Amino acid sequence: MNGVPIVDIDPFDHNYLRNPHEIWESLRNVGPVAWLSRYGHYVLSRYDHVKMAQNEWRTFTTAGGAGISDIRKPDNYRPSSVIVEVEPPKHTDVRKTVNKVIAPPVVRGWREQFESSGEELIDEVVKRGRFDGVRDVSEPYVLKVFPDSIGLDLNREQAVAVGDLNFNSLGPNNELVAKAREKVAPFLAWWHQSIKGETVKPGGAGEMLFKLEADGEIPVGLAGGLVQTFLRGGLDTTISSIGSALWLFAKNPDQWRLLRSKPELLRGAFDETLRMETPIQTNFRTTTGPIEVGGLPLDADKKVQLLLGAANRDPRHWSDPAKFDIARDATSHVAFGNGIHACAGQLIARLEFDSVIKALMNRVALIELDGEPEHRLNNSLRTLNKLPLKVTLDA
Ligand code: HEM
Repeated sequence: MNGVPIVDIDPFDHNYLRNPHEIWESLRNVGPVAWLSRYGHYVLSRYDHVKMAQNEWRTFTTAGGAGISDIRKPDNYRPSSVIVEVEPPKHTDVRKTVNKVIAPPVVRGWREQFESSGEELIDEVVKRGRFDGVRDVSEPYVLKVFPDSIGLDLNREQAVAVGDLNFNSLGPNNELVAKAREKVAPFLAWWHQSIKGETVKPGGAGEMLFKLEADGEIPVGLAGGLVQTFLRGGLDTTISSIGSALWLFAKNPDQWRLLRSKPELLRGAFDETLRMETPIQTNFRTTTGPIEVGGLPLDADKKVQLLLGAANRDPRHWSDPAKFDIARDATSHVAFGNGIHACAGQLIARLEFDSVIKALMNRVALIELDGEPEHRLNNSLRTLNKLPLKVTLDA
């Protein structure tokens, strides 16, 4: 391995998925890059190197797949994602289409609807005093506003099944993947239909995409591929960020008080939540040639695991990284990726977050834990499954 430290740990072990911080710290300390002998791939966990790999698409390509296996090799072959797993010049055209259908003015046009849905849901939920932050808030909210904006009908079971499989599939073929496959099986017919124009409702981004396809402005098949990408990438991630924020504010009442006294910190609260509880904890690249990272040589054509969650807690970049501090400047987090593949749905994610948290800020003086929270284990997604909360309303 020419000096690259060899490590025999399993970052997909359930204990680490539940509480990743200890293992992220040991990986960051072992060196700028390590070789995971169990899986046969490199891993980057320090902030500077993760960010560099996100930016350098020529040397760290996504064309081999965003997950652990190289999708171009016969044993692992699957068609690539229409946007995340393609590179320029093809990617440039696809990204232009995405930037058109979810352009800032389009998303701004959704604001009223997103905010009133947030007000309505929070108004009803907080009156109960006790509720679950995931089942009663983050999931129903995102599942109400986001599929409508795309123009698709889907229920919680379908959304959870698709998201579980999508994010588990980035990791090894373990029992989490097997269980996710079982759960998604009843919905496969619906999933395939969702990529055909006829099931898309009028008025959403999906309709715009199918119209561009019908007019011959984009290649046949792209509209369906993008609608599926939006659903795969845009549901669980935002559910995760809203759930994590409720958890973090429940554990840090001083930060909730600070936010209510300075509502302008809401922007920072979103970035800080993504830094602390990075929704997509990990994804992969493939080296296109020999390259050095931190003075150590990496071979060509090898998978490289990027630990976004570890980078976002790297003390080499962040002071007091375990502290939830909504007043810090967390905008340099890597939770949205960087470079050409940086998240195309950031504005939507922020709008959803703002709509829910603002509705809570207007009503709730204190958020407290009302039992033990529980994470839904997944190979790459960090998200809560259960978050019992109680709230004290303004007098
Ligand atoms: C908090 C919420 C979200 C997080 C943390 C997140 C995270 C990410 C990350 C890390 C990437 C880069 C993947 C890579 O480098 O391999 C990405 C790409 C992408 N995201 Fe998001 N995402 C979020 C919400 C959304 C939403 C709501 C949409 C809805 C449209 C969306 C659509 C996309 C698309 C289309 C890409 C591919 C961009 C490209 O390859 O050019 N995301 N996201």
